[in-house]
Amino acid sequence: MRMKDKVALITGAASGMGAATARLFGREGAKAVVVADVLDKEGEAVVADIRKAQGKADFIHLDVTDEAGWKGVIDQTVATHGGLDVLVNNAGISGSAEQDLYDTAAWNRLMGINATGVFLGMKHGIAAMKKGGRRGSVINLSSISGIVGQGFIHVGYNASKGAVRLLTKAGAAQHGRDGIRINSVHPGLMPPMRTSGRTADPETRAKTLKGVPLGRAGEVDEVAYAILFLASDESSYVTGAELVVDGGLTAV
Ligand SMILES: NC(=O)c1ccc[n+]([C@@H]2O[C@H](COP(=O)([O-])OP(=O)(O)OC[C@H]3O[C@@H](n4cnc5c(N)ncnc54)[C@H](O)[C@@H]3O)[C@@H](O)[C@H]2O)c1
Repeated sequence: MRMKDKVALITGAASGMGAATARLFGREGAKAVVVADVLDKEGEAVVADIRKAQGKADFIHLDVTDEAGWKGVIDQTVATHGGLDVLVNNAGISGSAEQDLYDTAAWNRLMGINATGVFLGMKHGIAAMKKGGRRGSVINLSSISGIVGQGFIHVGYNASKGAVRLLTKAGAAQHGRDGIRINSVHPGLMPPMRTSGRTADPETRAKTLKGVPLGRAGEVDEVAYAILFLASDESSYVTGAELVVDGGLTAV
């Protein structure tokens, strides 16, 4: 039971890696898993799955770009479950459906959800952890796109994921003495996002796959287990780190 006694909030947990992480935290005995997303029906379904497996979970509607919404979700989590121990800033959108890689509206959307959404989560999540006097762990979902550039994705995706990488390190530097650890996770070739365009295209995927030393795409649970390690006390001396989960793609 690697999440015993821990209250965890996961954004974008209605789908993909967020949903896999929520289910895993449930199986690992979390005191509560708060599933937050803009997709209510899908989020409720994840909660139902967790409860069916004897886990404890709630769904809360949250648009991560909405600061008042963040305050409400954090307040509700603390009031219902007595505090916050783990925050997974996972919600995100892809830049691979954009034709114009410099489209300004897309830049604002990508930075708003992928970067400002994480900033707001850190701002309000860390404040709640500090106020409760609890040690905490924040895990921010970046990407290999936060480490290297790609020619076929809107530049705002790389920029937003790069922002997440350094936001993580700045937070780690500032909050270590509060007992709060902050790390980033960098998945590589994974099942496509709901908002994927070119990265969902079989031809593009086959090309990317050629550069993956492990010779296959990753699975959502393989990222969820990396997040679990950073959320649990097993990683008690790990902060400001970037955990790459890409089958070796950026190693070569
Ligand atoms: N799938 C990949 O190839 C891949 C690779 C590297 C990194 N990532 C990152 O991992 C994270 C999870 O991606 P995924 O593959 O599970 O994608 P997904 O599309 O399956 O899930 C993303 C979730 O975020 C939610 N979301 C989007 N905008 C939101 C908002 N404004 N407020 C709240 N929720 C919002 C969506 O509703 C969805 O449930 C993202 O941050 C993504 O950028 C994905």
